[in-house]
Amino acid sequence: MRKKIGVAVFLVTGLSTLIFSGMLGDLISQASAQSIAKVQKKAAKSQVMDASRTVKAVPGTPDGVLLMQAHALFGKLPATMPGSEKDTPAMIALGKKLYFEKAISINKTQACNSCHPIGNNGAGTDHLKTGKGALGKSSDRNDPSTMNAGFQIAQFWDGRTATLEEQAQGPPLNPIEMGMPDGKSIAVRLKGIIPYPVEFKKAFPGEKDPVTFDNFAKAVAAFERTLITRGRFDRFMDGDKQALTAQEIEGMRSFINVGCVKCHSGPNLGGMTFQKIGVFHEYTKELGRFEFTKLESDKYVFKVPMLRNVTLTAPYFHNGEVGNLAEAVDLMGYLQLNNQLKDEEINNILRFMTTLADAERTTAPPKEEKASSDAWVTPLITDIPQGVYFSPKVYQCFTPKVYHF
Ligand code: HEC
Ligand code: HEC
Repeated sequence: MRKKIGVAVFLVTGLSTLIFSGMLGDLISQASAQSIAKVQKKAAKSQVMDASRTVKAVPGTPDGVLLMQAHALFGKLPATMPGSEKDTPAMIALGKKLYFEKAISINKTQACNSCHPIGNNGAGTDHLKTGKGALGKSSDRNDPSTMNAGFQIAQFWDGRTATLEEQAQGPPLNPIEMGMPDGKSIAVRLKGIIPYPVEFKKAFPGEKDPVTFDNFAKAVAAFERTLITRGRFDRFMDGDKQALTAQEIEGMRSFINVGCVKCHSGPNLGGMTFQKIGVFHEYTKELGRFEFTKLESDKYVFKVPMLRNVTLTAPYFHNGEVGNLAEAVDLMGYLQLNNQLKDEEINNILRFMTTLADAERTTAPPKEEKASSDAWVTPLITDIPQGVYFSPKVYQCFTPKVYHF
């Protein structure tokens, strides 16, 4: 019992300080070979070799410290999304149909699935630099994936809408996106398509006039709450230590120890906080969340994106400027941590990132959608460093690099 309390106290008070101050690394390197041997001998003797006693990290092995860090900093992905308690099968089925419905755009050419393709195992993003609307205009933001989106604290790069319901009403009325004049005209269109009136009635029983723009949003959000993806990372978090390779485990260790996890934490490795892009070096003149909150402290602040499926969702960042995941990782080290990551660290982190991908999802755009000229060249998830990447621009990091993987 005393031991358990000890571990808990260590977890709560010690772990975060240890990790964030980088002391963990120091602690490990300071421990002399002699003292490590002593601790190991003692640990082997003890009946319960609890995590806090493991001093030496064995490369490629998920030792106790790493497991404890992973559970404290990432945690397990919940089985269901918040808010899904009231979603019924009828609402979800209707929402799915509406997600693929092109009649909700002004010239009937675009559905949610056009920019966030999930059909044919898409990963929820179209791989364009920035979203392209029904009338061919481009927005200034990259399309995030709709997969797992409902786990986040807010929607959009600047978090300007709180819920999936609120978010779903944005694109249909956005002149650059689907371009419809108002919610009423969407309801009118849907009323004219058989069998929507019947399906809305099933999804919203007891309502006199269920085909409304509000109910459209409720159904789409209910469907989006089913878009949960899992990868080998989750098997590892569930206790299967064989789920990750030695290199992937080293990648997880680097991700934690260099400090990526300060911002990319929780079971989606992000999506939970807003942070400045360019903590140490300027990256963008775009004001980000400031435009929505008008708070000085929100200048250049964006939502920390989730990294689930990140190997499948190029290009990267709010402006889609970085097409190469290795460059995105390198740039993060430079901008956010003032740390010139070693090639080995970058490679390992990339390997770790492949474990966050759902094996059933691909980078390929759905068959019915043509890849655009600046489309992403599809790598296999298992091929990350060998895949074909392009980058429109090479950033001035500590040492400018051109990535050829
Ligand atoms: C023209 C392309 C386009 C269409 C059509 C479109 N979206 Fe988006 N979507 C975007 C872009 C671009 C963003 C990011 C905008 C921003 O953050 O300012 C986005 C953001 C989102 C987000 C927020 C995700 C996050 O992580 O913040 C969700 C959820 C979403 N869209 C769902 C939908 C749904 C549902 C529909 C259909 C009703 C839809 N989108 C239609 C381009 C599109
Ligand atoms: C101080 C907070 C912070 C730290 C530390 C941090 N990031 Fe980020 N990360 C962000 C923010 C904010 C963005 C979005 C920036 C934007 O789009 O302009 C981002 C974006 C990303 C993206 C692009 C994801 C996408 O879908 O576009 C990747 C990949 C990434 N980070 C990986 C890392 C890695 C690897 C590390 C550690 C080397 C790291 N980050 C450290 C805050 C952070």
